[in-house]
Amino acid sequence: MLTMKISELPNAQAVFVHDDLDDLSAAVAQRVVELATQAIAVRGVFHLALAGGETPRRCYQKLRELTIDWSRVQIYFGDERCLPVGNAQRNDSMARESLLDHVPIPPANIHSIPAELGAREAAAIYAALLDRIMPLDLVLLGMGEDGHTASLFPNNPATESASSIVAVFDAPKLPAERVSLGMSTLNTARQRIFIVAGKEKRAALKKIIEGTSLPVARVAAAEWHLDRAALPEEKDQCTQGTMRQEKPI
Ligand code: 6PG
Repeated sequence: MLTMKISELPNAQAVFVHDDLDDLSAAVAQRVVELATQAIAVRGVFHLALAGGETPRRCYQKLRELTIDWSRVQIYFGDERCLPVGNAQRNDSMARESLLDHVPIPPANIHSIPAELGAREAAAIYAALLDRIMPLDLVLLGMGEDGHTASLFPNNPATESASSIVAVFDAPKLPAERVSLGMSTLNTARQRIFIVAGKEKRAALKKIIEGTSLPVARVAAAEWHLDRAALPEEKDQCTQGTMRQEKPI
């Protein structure tokens, strides 16, 4: 029995429900390779924006074992926390530790958000970079317990901004000052993949299914990868193994 009807997630192109974070991470790493291979074959480059937080860490660790022509990959970040360079809580620190320091990617291909400069200055600098290369080929996205994604939080002016890159203040998830890809940048990317795991995410998923317009629900059509723990309890009747359902394109 399918555990999550695709229509229940307003922006789902496909919903994959995995037994656990490990299976989810392996599947998303495989999807990154597939999309990278396609993009490089067609355009000679793969513009990839990485998700922050903790959930993607296992996926990044698995990705470093797979075959990608890293010389053709340009790395960006969905968001960054306004902390000093090298701070362990920065999203680029996690990405370097779990993936980028372990693959032969040219350093010049890694485009960190200069969030240490402060949100406004960093957003202006990053916008000048991204405006030259958009659309991104793939944006990996997490989801917070309140339904935020990247650093686009509910009831925050940055989430409503039409700017390609936004300065974020008063974020409820510390640090309060951040820089984020704007909703328009997320939505003009060629592909979006959500990575959502853990029982702490159930409440937000349930609200989205019930029609609450949280930031994640406003992102354009995306592929959702969930683990069973994140499913609202009444949905988790699936048997073992990954369940999937795809909307006819
Ligand atoms: C951040 C992230 C944020 C994250 C979600 C989920 O800077 O915190 O960009 O959007 O993806 O909050 O975080 P976890 O994966 O740690 O639950």
